[in-house]
Amino acid sequence: MDAFVTSASGRTIPRVVRERRWWLLLVLAWGVAVGFSLNSQIEQTRRQATAVAIEGARNMFRMVLLTRNWNSSHGGVYVPVTEHTQPNPYLEHPRRDLMTTDGVALTMINPAYMTRLIGETAESASGAIFRLSSLRPIRPGNGPDDWERQALLAFEQGEKEMTGVERGPQGAMLRYMAPLPVKRSCMDCHAKQGYQIGDVRGGLSVSQRYEPIEEVVHSGVRKALISHGIGFVLVLAAGWLLLEILRRRWFDLAGKVDELEASQSQLLQSEKMASIGQLAAGVAHEINNPVGFVNSNLGALKKYSEQMVSLLERCRNGQASEADFAAIDFDYLKDDLGDLLNESREGLERVKKIVSDLKTYSRVDESAWQDADLNSGIESTLNVAWNELKYKADVIRELGELPPVPCVAAQINQVVMNLLVNAVHAIETHGTITVRSGHDDAWAWIEVADTGKGMTPAVMNRIFEPFYTTKPVGKGTGLGLSLSYDIVRKHDGRIEVSSEVGVGSTFRVLLPLHGKSPDGAAGPDSGR
Ligand code: HEC
Repeated sequence: MDAFVTSASGRTIPRVVRERRWWLLLVLAWGVAVGFSLNSQIEQTRRQATAVAIEGARNMFRMVLLTRNWNSSHGGVYVPVTEHTQPNPYLEHPRRDLMTTDGVALTMINPAYMTRLIGETAESASGAIFRLSSLRPIRPGNGPDDWERQALLAFEQGEKEMTGVERGPQGAMLRYMAPLPVKRSCMDCHAKQGYQIGDVRGGLSVSQRYEPIEEVVHSGVRKALISHGIGFVLVLAAGWLLLEILRRRWFDLAGKVDELEASQSQLLQSEKMASIGQLAAGVAHEINNPVGFVNSNLGALKKYSEQMVSLLERCRNGQASEADFAAIDFDYLKDDLGDLLNESREGLERVKKIVSDLKTYSRVDESAWQDADLNSGIESTLNVAWNELKYKADVIRELGELPPVPCVAAQINQVVMNLLVNAVHAIETHGTITVRSGHDDAWAWIEVADTGKGMTPAVMNRIFEPFYTTKPVGKGTGLGLSLSYDIVRKHDGRIEVSSEVGVGSTFRVLLPLHGKSPDGAAGPDSGR
């Protein structure tokens, strides 16, 4: 409930629409999403740059391996001895040093020595460093550094290659290393250390400076930041705009619906007024009649009393003659005086009855929930509507015994009135309207049946819709039944209809005997 607020006009507008600060939540969510995307893109750029660098290192490793294997397959190769290329003191071989027939000194270069020599050239040329190492080096200088030791230990466990970034004194280095397994061609020189084919003799590590890779990553990060920033702002602006438009629409619509409801309730009001007007006309007619003859009776009584007063006067003065008495037909006067008085009293009784019926019908004095006698309500409603009914229909009352029913009696009377008026309108020339009532354990019911023209199922499906009417223009707003439907629904009851074209219609109103509590129930006038 808290998420909704009510507009001044009574329409509920969700708080998220009404108060823009809730939209900041969306902005936050969008920001988090963009942040995630940015993070994953940076991560991917870094991974890609590193993967490219590692692939480079791997290729370099393969090249070196190729040359080493070529060397090894020849059991070592001979090169001329120079200042730079001195005989290898660690190589124990019977023909390590040779002399050509023309006196040039040659020395055998084993793969490890060759690797070292190529490595020195490569480092000065490209900045990449590769190094041979072993956990059990023949040459002490071939001992591993910390990172290489970890890698070599991992290779003994079956690892195929190792990569990593190591921060050192000359900055961060990207490192790559793969094992060198012992092959048959290695055994000439390494069998004496106890190696078997397949053992890990050592490894070759390739190291390169990480800085260039980081630069690639940084420029990638910059691009990602810019593209994400632009995306964030653009979507934010467009989204905000869209929400703003939606908000306006919502408000507009709420306003329109308010207007519609206002005019609908106005129409309902005028329907009520119209039926009150109709009622008043009927009642006026009913009252007019007796008031008319009471009035003329009073005229006649006045004439008689004047005659009698003048006769009495003459008697007192002793002027009365036989002729005066003969002029008055006393027998007739006696009867007529009685008749006139009785008739007038009856007329006034009728007026009194009509007024009391009107009072019961409208229940002006007790418009709230009460345990009401529905039958007496029906009787007075019939009396009030009598003027509408009497020329068009014979009314048959079959009212059963009813316990008190909890309801707003004036509203139920209005429903009965609507049904009666509807029944009269359904009758084309002259017919019968039967009003019944009764109850079972749970429900009290009132039935109004007519012998009118009936309805098709299509019409029957729509009769409770507001403004639906089959009456000619000006004859009804089409609100009577919808009004009745609303009233009965507010009582937790229901209306049932059955009808046959050409035979008639029956409306049955069912009200719960022990149901609806009056809490929150509307009074007769707030009920639309
Ligand atoms: C011609 C002899 C010879 C052949 C063939 C040979 N090596 Fe060597 N290897 C040596 C000598 C001598 C060293 C000693 C250190 C040096 O020269 O740097 C050595 C050193 C190494 C080292 C460096 C660690 C250390 O012990 O100092 C590795 C690793 C290595 N050899 C692997 C191999 C592999 C694998 C093969 C086969 C593909 C192979 N070697 C074939 C002679 C040979």
